[in-house]
Amino acid sequence: MDTKVIILDEKNFDMDKIKEIGSEIREGKLVVIPTETVYGLGANALDESAVEKIFIAKGRPQDNPLIVHIGDFEDLYKLVEEVPAVARKAMEMFWPGPITFILKKKDIIPFKTSGGLDSVGVRFPSNKIAQEIIRASMVPVAAPSANLSGKPSPTEVERCIEDLNGKVEYIIGGNESEIGLESTVLDCTVYPPCILRPGAITLEDLRKVDDKIYMDSALLQNNEVNKPKAPGMKYRHYAPKGELIVIKGKLENTINKINELKDKYIRIQKNVAILATDETISKYNHKNVISVGSRSDINTIGKNLFEALRKCDDLKVDIILSEAFDEIGVGIAIMNRLNKAAGYNIIEV
Ligand code: TXA
Ligand code: MG
Repeated sequence: MDTKVIILDEKNFDMDKIKEIGSEIREGKLVVIPTETVYGLGANALDESAVEKIFIAKGRPQDNPLIVHIGDFEDLYKLVEEVPAVARKAMEMFWPGPITFILKKKDIIPFKTSGGLDSVGVRFPSNKIAQEIIRASMVPVAAPSANLSGKPSPTEVERCIEDLNGKVEYIIGGNESEIGLESTVLDCTVYPPCILRPGAITLEDLRKVDDKIYMDSALLQNNEVNKPKAPGMKYRHYAPKGELIVIKGKLENTINKINELKDKYIRIQKNVAILATDETISKYNHKNVISVGSRSDINTIGKNLFEALRKCDDLKVDIILSEAFDEIGVGIAIMNRLNKAAGYNIIEV
């Protein structure tokens, strides 16, 4: 298949192009679109055969439900049976933005889209290109992250091209995804609502809406022991090709341990990369040290994490040694992704 790559300027884009892309989605084509969280692989959520093609292009397990994206708040009511008051309040606070609400689905959503479930995840993204494309399509747009299943989610258009060129009709590029982590997933089919996937909208943020909202306890542990509630969270995910080891503990001990392991692996002829931060990068004397961001602004780490993991693949390293980050606020989402990417290969120091 010939993939058309179209790069749009987020501040000044051509509405005729947007209309063309929108009608291609409506007619069943696969279109990669930028969003503020990560790039999404979009298709008409109401068209089973279009949705089927998403699963094939990504190599995604069929029981893993897709998130449905809307371009106008009111469209929500066409897709779901009911919107509990707590969900409505959270939407008013955080939409458009990086949070997905799981609600009871209407029959219009095919089971192919919902992974066989009676519920559906709905998100209203804040990215302007995403909003305009969805509106122009005049249909809800199912869009998982635009990576091959198992690989880190793409935050730059080049990564979408790497993974999906020849497998989709269009790849639309915008800026880098500003958040860099997939949306928070909040299950509102139960009360109190439960966070199934942590993201940039944190538990503390959501507790301002209702202080009973809680986090699925399986999320920060090894999935083999305790199965998470979101189908997608049980799969090995976000994984780079190299073996990733997370070193967790007092920062000084972490740095010492990483230096010790780096020397050990180099001695046995392994290629090693280190994931550090702006504050610690100078503590490592090694050619492949990548700063993920700044510890004083945890959002920068969220934004760069997946790209840093992909850069390790570019470097073709065998071993990736990563510092851990504080598990507060967005740090919970960051550590959830990092621990999963490492297959829970964590050394405590
Ligand atoms: O930020 C995002 O959410 C991105 C962008 C493109 O919007 N999309 C994304 O989609 O991350 P995906 O398919 O990679 O992840 C969807 C997650 C999976 O863990 C899936 O199991 C869960 O949401 N999910 C979707 N619908 C669900 C449902 N009805 N019940 C429980 N979990 C659901
Ligand atoms: Mg994904």
